[in-house]
Amino acid sequence: MRSSHRSFSSRPLDKALMERIGAMLKNLPFPPFSGNVRFDLVDAAGHFDGAPRRLGTYGVIRGARCFIVGAVRKAPRAMEDFGYLMEAVILGLTDLGLGTCWLGGTFYRSEFARSIGATDEEVVPAITPVGYPAANRGITDRIIRWSAGSKKRRAMEELFFVSGFSRPAEKADIKPHAEALDAVRMAPSASNLQPWRLVLEENNGIVHFFLVRSRGYDRIIRAVDLQRIDMGIAMCHFEMSKRDTAAPGRWDERPPCFSGLSEKTEYIASWVPE
Ligand SMILES: Cc1cc2nc3c(=O)[nH]c(=O)nc-3n(C[C@H](O)[C@H](O)[C@H](O)COP(=O)(O)O)c2cc1C
Repeated sequence: MRSSHRSFSSRPLDKALMERIGAMLKNLPFPPFSGNVRFDLVDAAGHFDGAPRRLGTYGVIRGARCFIVGAVRKAPRAMEDFGYLMEAVILGLTDLGLGTCWLGGTFYRSEFARSIGATDEEVVPAITPVGYPAANRGITDRIIRWSAGSKKRRAMEELFFVSGFSRPAEKADIKPHAEALDAVRMAPSASNLQPWRLVLEENNGIVHFFLVRSRGYDRIIRAVDLQRIDMGIAMCHFEMSKRDTAAPGRWDERPPCFSGLSEKTEYIASWVPE
């Protein structure tokens, strides 16, 4: 059901809903690498002198007054943890019938960082507006969706492999993980680049997550690695789907020795069934 919304109706969030969101932000699960992540619900009107509600996002977001702003303490794997938890927040908000949009680039980072009192040890990798989606998508939203190809996703054979990168997964290989892999495919990613590649081990249910970077993309924003955030998002979708289908497991560091690995494929983590 989730898709990015950049135009919002003027209907405000009522107090009870704001409290539910606040409670959700305080009761998030542990992220896979146990990073230090926190989120806050921020009323943009209070932070931009009530004036230009469009200002804080370069005009990308229209009509939203509230934002969820997240900060994470700088550390290895902080971006994956942030992506994982913020996507849990976004799916929770979707469940409440609210519209959201991951913003990792088009927002005034320092102003939003100030709005939650981020310290020098923290970084604000991304934010999302939250509110009721407008009845129609605005022109900016439509242009961004068109240029990112937001409706489409990569084919299964491009994303999922068996026992190494030389064998694209076929339907029969995918069967034990069908829902979880579908959930990964549907996940949002920066510029819709979908940098995740998953390698399934045969017979034991282990799934290895790799990042294949899009050229030049790691240099766009210095302090924030958007494609590592994407990896955290994929892990969130995978784990939630596994939990939904009562297939428990955990994240572990088990870098495999496969053929076809290169400096382009960065190992992130493995899902190990229990
Ligand atoms: C980490 C991350 C950063 C993003 N940053 C922006 C952004 O700065 N501005 C924007 O308009 N959309 C941004 N997006 C939204 C993506 O363009 C969008 O998720 C993708 O095109 C897929 O479309 P969908 O979310 O509607 O499925 C970002 C998404 C992710 C996951």
